Amino acid sequence: MKIKWCVIGAAGIADRRTIPALVADENNQLCAVMDKVADAAKAVGEKYGVPYYTDAEQMLKEVACDAVYIATPVFCHREQALLALKYDRNVLIEKPIARTEAESAEILDAFKKAGKQLSVGYMMKYHSLHQKARNFIKKDKVGQVTNVRLQFSCWYPDIPGAWRQIKELGGGGALMDLGVHCLELAEYILDEEIVDIKSFVNTQTFKYEVEDSAVMIFKTKSGTLGHIDVNFNIPDDVSVAKLEIYGTKGYMICNNTLAQDDVGTMAYLYAPQGDYDAMQEHAIIKPKKFRASGKNIYAKQLAEFSKHVLAGKPNYKYAKRAVHIQALCDKMYAEQ
Ligand SMILES: NC(=O)c1ccc[n+]([C@@H]2O[C@H](COP(=O)([O-])OP(=O)(O)OC[C@H]3O[C@@H](n4cnc5c(N)ncnc54)[C@H](O)[C@@H]3O)[C@@H](O)[C@H]2O)c1
Repeated sequence: MKIKWCVIGAAGIADRRTIPALVADENNQLCAVMDKVADAAKAVGEKYGVPYYTDAEQMLKEVACDAVYIATPVFCHREQALLALKYDRNVLIEKPIARTEAESAEILDAFKKAGKQLSVGYMMKYHSLHQKARNFIKKDKVGQVTNVRLQFSCWYPDIPGAWRQIKELGGGGALMDLGVHCLELAEYILDEEIVDIKSFVNTQTFKYEVEDSAVMIFKTKSGTLGHIDVNFNIPDDVSVAKLEIYGTKGYMICNNTLAQDDVGTMAYLYAPQGDYDAMQEHAIIKPKKFRASGKNIYAKQLAEFSKHVLAGKPNYKYAKRAVHIQALCDKMYAEQ
């Protein structure tokens, strides 16, 4: 059976990434698209040969579908997710789930009550090397994980009216847009919750009201310490998307894997040590290199979502984590 999809907010990341993955998959079918900008809705509808709308409710009334993918600015997520639920649809909503923990929890509670699937578009956990890193930790290939670092940045200058640059619309800046990916990925790879977090946020380079840079330090349930930095003020060519995991027996260093494609490399070193070496004279050991698989991470995300819908058994583990991430963000913003 194919999962039939409608899309709300069709002309951004939906058109760039998720819809192409959806239409390429034999288990999914695109039925209609909606965008509030008429020309954009028309362009995407015609591109994929499906009906297009500028009114989400009209689309949901007229088009029979199993699931709705919501890829609108963050301030729209709550209202549109609840609208899709009113029409009894399963929902895959883009990250962050909503602007605050309260909004996010309201969405999750409503879906749980209705027994409909809800997932959130944190697609980086479907990257082959992130999955490998998680498996390696489970197989004790780096020992006890003691330190994790994530770095994710881009160049995002002042653009008048851009929703990401207005607190009320995006919920925040670099932390809310890039930082949430890092937080979710850290919890996925470590397979445990972040229980405490502190941060500095700053608007250093640009004029917009949200932060263009943020640094976070955190602690997980088992005691792993972590560090995340996210910037809107580092040029794309200078940005290094990096994930580093250090343990008592080795390391995994992923370069350029925090991306929309399954790209980049992972260097893995296994080098357990016995006694303290006061001389600190150790040979440099070459790590083993792994390459990314190149598979479409958006397709993998859709496949997992569809599996839950087809099984008729909603799974809220990722939605719950997405709500928890917003609680961490609330705390960090409140402490500034
Ligand atoms: N997972 C990822 O890879 C990824 C990447 C980029 C963005 N995102 C997330 O996707 C969401 C959208 O981001 P984007 O970069 O595509 O933004 P965007 O501004 O590029 O695109 C959003 C689209 O939604 C439309 N829109 C705006 N308000 C609407 C409304 N009320 N109803 C219907 N359509 C509306 C816009 O016209 C536009 O076509 C955000 O939550 C963002 O964080 C996720």
